[in-house]
Amino acid sequence: MTGQTVRPGLEGISVAETRLSRVDGEAGELVVGGYPIEILTEHASFEEAVFLLFEDRLPTGTELDRFRSALATRRTVGEAVHGVLCRAAEDGDSAMDALRMGVAAASLGTDADDSREAAKRVVAVVPTIVAAYWRYRQDESPVDPDPELSHAANYLYMLTGERPSDDAVGGIETYLTTVIDHGLNASTFTARTVVSTESDLVSAATAAVGTLKGPLHGGAPGPVLDMLQSVHDSGDPEGYVRDRLDAGERLMGFGHRVYRVRDPRAAVLSAAAERFYAGTDADGFYETVERFESVALDALAEHKPDRRLATNVEFYTAALLHGVGIPRDLFTATFAVGRAGGWMAHCLEQLDDNRLIRPVSTYVGATDRTWTPVDRR
Ligand code: COA
Repeated sequence: MTGQTVRPGLEGISVAETRLSRVDGEAGELVVGGYPIEILTEHASFEEAVFLLFEDRLPTGTELDRFRSALATRRTVGEAVHGVLCRAAEDGDSAMDALRMGVAAASLGTDADDSREAAKRVVAVVPTIVAAYWRYRQDESPVDPDPELSHAANYLYMLTGERPSDDAVGGIETYLTTVIDHGLNASTFTARTVVSTESDLVSAATAAVGTLKGPLHGGAPGPVLDMLQSVHDSGDPEGYVRDRLDAGERLMGFGHRVYRVRDPRAAVLSAAAERFYAGTDADGFYETVERFESVALDALAEHKPDRRLATNVEFYTAALLHGVGIPRDLFTATFAVGRAGGWMAHCLEQLDDNRLIRPVSTYVGATDRTWTPVDRR
């Protein structure tokens, strides 16, 4: 077929109706499950937010208790998965590679054909896999999940082996809920494409992890932290920003494909980071973060007067995750801990009214070649 308009990256093409989240890039608004992200993160636990996305309503107290225990009973992984994670850590594989292999193996012994079962299993198991990999990487034994702890608290507990503080749990819970869903981003689209073939949700999660790993999607907060640490050490944000922009480089944590104003998630995470660092910022790291943001925004406005470049979610993700003690190498995997809720909700939504996702391409190759036998090439 010729004469079709090609839209590289599917930019601006809507391929699904969803009730899960709405991203308004012009107004800088994000609605998740019907609630503005500011309201959802203020009130909901991560488990409540996942239930909301799965069921399109808030749980009653009893339903929430039941949902929490459903996740608790699905949180452990077997010996086979531990074997994979231990080997990945020994071989120096990245956290995202370990997570991809761990998620793929997590269906062992479960009924992967039952979609609702698999959705809960995936959400429950992602933090366990990330934490176990990290413990192996530190030459430490993995820590079993504690059924008494919430999803967010368990993640920190399994990473460190210590009961986390309420402030740290609050910080990570806000982060996980903030990133739970965000329209048809690349990994979510991948997950929907996989289940649209009537494949299973564990396969969808495995493919989504692989998609999130890419630096254009989930990989920015690590470099943001490197940048903030370098500025914190030098004490010279103006010099850093000038050098980067003069060299034609981009400042990590600023700009967005969809948002033309400040990413609403940056506002939620900056408030959470401010709360978290208050009273604990002995070496003034958070002061550096705030000063850097203001210097960078002024410089970007001058550098690109026709393009509104605002702070994006990754800037305060780096500050907050670093504050609550998540190692830099786990930033993208921690994003997956939260986004797993959105991935699975999208898969269930896709299956509710499924149509195979199968776009077309425009052929631009040769059409009139004549075959040359191999001995004459
Ligand atoms: N620092 C400096 N300049 C930037 C910039 C940044 N963070 N983001 C965009 N620009 C500039 C581009 O260089 C480009 O300039 P040009 O027209 O002279 O080439 C212009 O602004 C428009 O950039 P464009 O690539 O069209 O923006 P985009 O909407 O496609 O890209 C991002 C969005 C997120 C990829 C981009 O802003 C970026 O690379 N940001 C830094 C990485 C980051 O924080 N990623 C996490 C995103 S959540």
